[in-house]
Amino acid sequence: GGARFGMTAARSLSVSVVPILKKLQRECATPLPVLRHVADAMAADMRAGLAADGGSDLKMILSYVDSLPRGNEKGLFYALDLGGTNFRVLRVQLGGEEDRVVATEFDQVTIPQELMFGTSEKLFDFIASGLGKFSNKEGGKFHLPPGRKREIGFTFSFPVKQISIDSGILIKWTKGFAVSGTAGKDVVACLNEAMERRGLDMRVSALVNDTVATLAGARYWDNDVMVAVILGTGTNACYVERTDAIPKLDGHVSTSGRTIINTEWGAFSNGLPLTEFDREMDAASINPGEQIYEKTISGMYLGEIVRRALVKMAVEGALFGKSIPHKLLTPFLLRTPDLCAMQKDESDDLQKVGSVLYDVAGVESNLGARKVVVEVCDTITKRGGRLAGAGIVGILQKMEEDSKGLIFGKRTVVAMDGGLYEKYSQYRGYMHGAVTELLGTELSRNLVIEHSKDGSGIGAALLAAANSNYEHDF
Ligand code: GLC
Repeated sequence: GGARFGMTAARSLSVSVVPILKKLQRECATPLPVLRHVADAMAADMRAGLAADGGSDLKMILSYVDSLPRGNEKGLFYALDLGGTNFRVLRVQLGGEEDRVVATEFDQVTIPQELMFGTSEKLFDFIASGLGKFSNKEGGKFHLPPGRKREIGFTFSFPVKQISIDSGILIKWTKGFAVSGTAGKDVVACLNEAMERRGLDMRVSALVNDTVATLAGARYWDNDVMVAVILGTGTNACYVERTDAIPKLDGHVSTSGRTIINTEWGAFSNGLPLTEFDREMDAASINPGEQIYEKTISGMYLGEIVRRALVKMAVEGALFGKSIPHKLLTPFLLRTPDLCAMQKDESDDLQKVGSVLYDVAGVESNLGARKVVVEVCDTITKRGGRLAGAGIVGILQKMEEDSKGLIFGKRTVVAMDGGLYEKYSQYRGYMHGAVTELLGTELSRNLVIEHSKDGSGIGAALLAAANSNYEHDF
């Protein structure tokens, strides 16, 4: 630990590390004008994406979800969720207005690394097999009327060009997935083929993005939910849009006059404060030049940006002494939970920071170095959280511009989900701070930003119910 540093080493450490840290903080700064620019640009990009396909970084995808759950949904429905580190299966027995959610059961498995880089068939076989095992264990609390197929809400959290509520073509993979043979294909067809291979007779009645499922799940309990945001491995947002505000509607008719738009805001890139570490990480990624907002604010990338900054400080500023800790050179070694654990450390000697650095990166650190590490984590987390807040305000701003008073003039709820939001209190705090700073206390008063825990599973099942092939049981 600290004893390895003589006075000279300690002094030279601070002399050469401090300028790198200061530069990082300067470049990551998000004062009000930067936030305002991001919010405005987000709103403008949304408009451009609604005007024409390809009109903007934001794809503004039509979800084909034109009506949201009302609470009267009944029956047994399944949900599948593929989109990040985990694959989840869920079943829910819906009891209608009075009884609501009668019973739920779910199962979750980590997606094996090799499947993220394998073939489409392997990935969908894995999903179908998980679904098969799970549906075999359906117990007494769940009831399917005789002669009916089990119906699934499939949450597939990647950019999909929807063709209808129950089909859509994968535009591209994001979040580190590089599965061959899926892009350009209908993912529901891929799943159906895999289910057929296993003799599994179920039907996908709704294909939805995780943001859309979250919005549906939250709306089931609260009619004021207008926006849903995911801050997890990746990031995205969807919202309720008026069809008359969607020039590219292409003949799609919504009887409600509204539809949900999946913004795919992860692809936003306008005016973001970026550093050399962001640029290097992007260049080394499997999707260079893409998903820049996602790479700046979401859980998959925060630790990697920090790691790259620490490597520079170690190499050019001897942050951890004379030798460069070899393990620290491993890409994606530091993960968001590590940053979170380090930022929670309130002890005088930053012992937890020291042990994370040692356990994860094999790095021995003195107190000075640990303080720098915490500063770096905080700088990257703060930038991410504040930029996420600006994005949310951008969406609200766009909605308010089109329907004066209908957003800021009444209670409006933004449903949030994702591990980053749920587990990283500093990040969450920075996000909330930026929203209030941008809106001011007056406009923030009617705004509720709340965690919709696991809303997306139920949400997908609800959307399957709404688009069921069968008559409702009521
Ligand atoms: C990525 C995906 C998007 C998803 C988000 C959150 O940005 O492209 O579809 O909603 O991650 O999981």
